[in-house]
Amino acid sequence: MFNYQYKAGRRDTLKNISRYIFYFALGAFLIPVNRFLNRLQPKKRRFLLKRQNLVEGINTFPDVIVFKRGEQIRLFSRRCPHLGCDVQMNPTAKELVCPCHGSRFTAQGRYLSGPARKDLSELSFKPINRGEWEVEL
Ligand code: FES
Repeated sequence: MFNYQYKAGRRDTLKNISRYIFYFALGAFLIPVNRFLNRLQPKKRRFLLKRQNLVEGINTFPDVIVFKRGEQIRLFSRRCPHLGCDVQMNPTAKELVCPCHGSRFTAQGRYLSGPARKDLSELSFKPINRGEWEVEL
C-alpha cells in the first residue's frame, strides 16, 4: 500500500516566503513605474466650440482661450509655458496674465514679460458642423 504524505520542510517554506516577497517587491516597483509612464502620455480630450458662444475679442473657457476677430478665430491653451498655471484675462489692459509668477501675454498669445519666455501654445481645431469646431487638448 502506497501512503504518501507531503510534508513541507523548512527549506520549502523559506522558498515560498522568498517567492512571495519577490512578487510583492516586483509589484511595488511596477505600480509606480506604470503610473509614471501613463503620466508621460498626453491625455486627449475633446472640446466642442460653438460660434454662437463667442464674442468679439478674447473668450476664456476652462482650458482654452479663443481670440475672435471677425471671421478669424485662434485658439490658445490656457496653460502658462512657465510652470503650467492657468492664465487669466486682464480686461483693463486687454492682455493675459499668469497669476502664479506674473508672466504677461498679448490677447493673441504672444509673450510680453515674466519668467515664461515663450508664447502660449496655439491649438488646432477642425470643423465638425456649420459653426462648430472640435478642439483636441
Ligand atoms: Fe506662469 Fe510661472 S506659471 S509665470
